[in-house]
Amino acid sequence: MSIEFAGNKSVITPEGVFIIGTYDENGVPNAMNAAWGMQSDMGEITLMLAKHKTTENFEKTGAFTVAFGTADTVLISDYFGVETGKKVNKIEKAGCHVHKSAHVNAPIIEEYPLTLECRVRSWDTETGYLIGEIVASQADESILTDGKVELRPIIFDPSFNAYRVIGEVVGKAFGDGLKLK
Ligand SMILES: Cc1cc2nc3c(=O)[nH]c(=O)nc-3n(C[C@H](O)[C@H](O)[C@H](O)COP(=O)(O)O)c2cc1C
Repeated sequence: MSIEFAGNKSVITPEGVFIIGTYDENGVPNAMNAAWGMQSDMGEITLMLAKHKTTENFEKTGAFTVAFGTADTVLISDYFGVETGKKVNKIEKAGCHVHKSAHVNAPIIEEYPLTLECRVRSWDTETGYLIGEIVASQADESILTDGKVELRPIIFDPSFNAYRVIGEVVGKAFGDGLKLK
């Protein structure tokens, strides 16, 4: 038996822990945490954003990076979501190291093992939809197996306001279901 319980409070799980890296007009790096996002086409990511230092930044540079939160980076990932770059240099405060992407005008935060380098494809200030073209990706050697990325990302669980690790393989995509065809 199912019980109606949450009204319109979001219990959509999983949500991502997308860390959006940007530079301001003076080349000062910043990062923010975003849960609402997804792959929206081959080579494309869509994120839903309110107005932040981050949005001011990519409006000027036309670029951003997206890294993925992990258990090792949970503290800095949450920090990037509870402080604004309008007041403080979060990258410095978090003790992070950055270098500029070779492809877009946005920072790669070296503490994260996987980063997408994106050009702004469209940004709608009415809806808050940011669409980015993924022009390149950087992965740490430690998560590459035979050219495949094997990451154990964290997800945001809005029911518990918690971060959870994912990683266990429980099935074969485009495979298990074929048994019922
Ligand atoms: C778990 C978590 C998820 C978040 N998801 C989003 C999101 O999807 N969209 C958004 O606009 N803000 C989101 N935020 C809020 C921003 O990260 C926060 O306002 C941040 O301070 C913005 O940083 P900035 O001003 O330096 O750009 C989230 C924060 C947390 C902690």
